Amino acid sequence: MQFAEANGARIPTLGMGTMTLKGETCVNAVSAALKIGYRHLDTAERYGNETEVGEGLRASGIDRKDVFVTTKVYWDKLAPADFQKSFDESLNKLKLPWVDLLLIHWPSKTVPLADTMPMLCAARKDGRARHIGVANFTVPLIEEAVRLATEPLVANQIEVHPYLDQSKVIAACRRHGLSVTAYCPLARGQVPGDAALAGIGKRHGKSASQVALRWLVQQGIVVIPRSSKPERLAENMAVFDFTLTDAEMAEVARLKRPDSRVVNPPHAPKWDMAA
Ligand SMILES: NC(=O)c1ccc[n+]([C@@H]2O[C@H](COP(=O)([O-])OP(=O)(O)OC[C@H]3O[C@@H](n4cnc5c(N)ncnc54)[C@H](OP(=O)(O)O)[C@@H]3O)[C@@H](O)[C@H]2O)c1
Repeated sequence: MQFAEANGARIPTLGMGTMTLKGETCVNAVSAALKIGYRHLDTAERYGNETEVGEGLRASGIDRKDVFVTTKVYWDKLAPADFQKSFDESLNKLKLPWVDLLLIHWPSKTVPLADTMPMLCAARKDGRARHIGVANFTVPLIEEAVRLATEPLVANQIEVHPYLDQSKVIAACRRHGLSVTAYCPLARGQVPGDAALAGIGKRHGKSASQVALRWLVQQGIVVIPRSSKPERLAENMAVFDFTLTDAEMAEVARLKRPDSRVVNPPHAPKWDMAA
C-alpha cells in the first residue's frame, strides 16, 4: 500500500468508497475489502451505513489501528450544536472512540464557515478525529478554511476522474499541503466501458478502470472507488504494479470534457463548483 503524506497525516492512497452500500451487503463488502488488503474506508453520516461499516471493520479481524476511517458531517448539520450531535452519532454508530479523518461533507450556503471551523478543529484537539479536512471545497473556500483553521487541514475530497478537469482545485490543495482524495474515480460506471482507457490498459494487461485509478494515484491523488463485488474490489486494488508513460498520462488527461460532473451539489440553487 502506498500513502499520501499531508500536513502530518499518512493516508492510504487506495480506499474503499461505501456510498449506497447498505445492510449485509455493506458489512460483507467492507470485511472482504479489508481481508484482501484495503486499509482505508470512506463513509459519511449521510450514507446511513456507519453502523455497517463499523461492523464490517470488526468482522474483518483487522486491527482497528491499521485501518484509516473517514466520516463526514453533512452540509445541513454545520451549525455548531448540529455538528457536535452529528459527529457524536457517527462515532456511536461506528462504535469507535475516534476516526482517522473527519470532513465537512459539503460547504453550507447559510452557516458561515467561521462558525463550523472551531467545531471541526475541536474534534481534532480532543482526539476524536486524528485528522480533519473538507470535501467539495472550491479554491476560495479552501483559502477561507485554511485561514480560519487553528489545526492543520489534511484533505479536500472532490470529484476527480479522467473526464473532469480539477486542476485549479488540486493546485490550491497542493499550495496548502492538503491531499486530494478523488471521489467517483470511475465516474460512477462510465470509466469501465471507456474504449480509450481500455486501449491503454491492453498494453499493460490492465482494465480501463485500473488505468483511470492508476492515472490518479500516479499524480499522488488518493482514490476511493466503490464496489460491492469482491472481484472488482480486487481489480481496483491492483494499480500499484504498473506505470503509465508520460504519453499515456497525457492521453488520459485529454479525455476531459465540459459538463462531466457526475455529482451535482445538493444545494438549491446550485453551488458554483467552477470557482
Ligand atoms: N464527498 C462527497 O461528496 C462524495 C460524493 C460521491 C462519492 N463519494 C465517495 O466516493 C466513493 C466513490 O464514488 P462513487 O461510489 O459515487 O462512484 P465510483 O467509485 O466512481 O463508481 C462506483 C460504480 O462503479 C462500479 N464499479 C466499481 N468498480 C468497478 C470495476 N472494476 N469495473 C466495473 N464497474 C465497477 C460499481 O458497481 P458495483 O458495486 O456493482 O461493482 C458502482 O456502480 C463513494 O462510494 C463515496 O464513499 C464522496
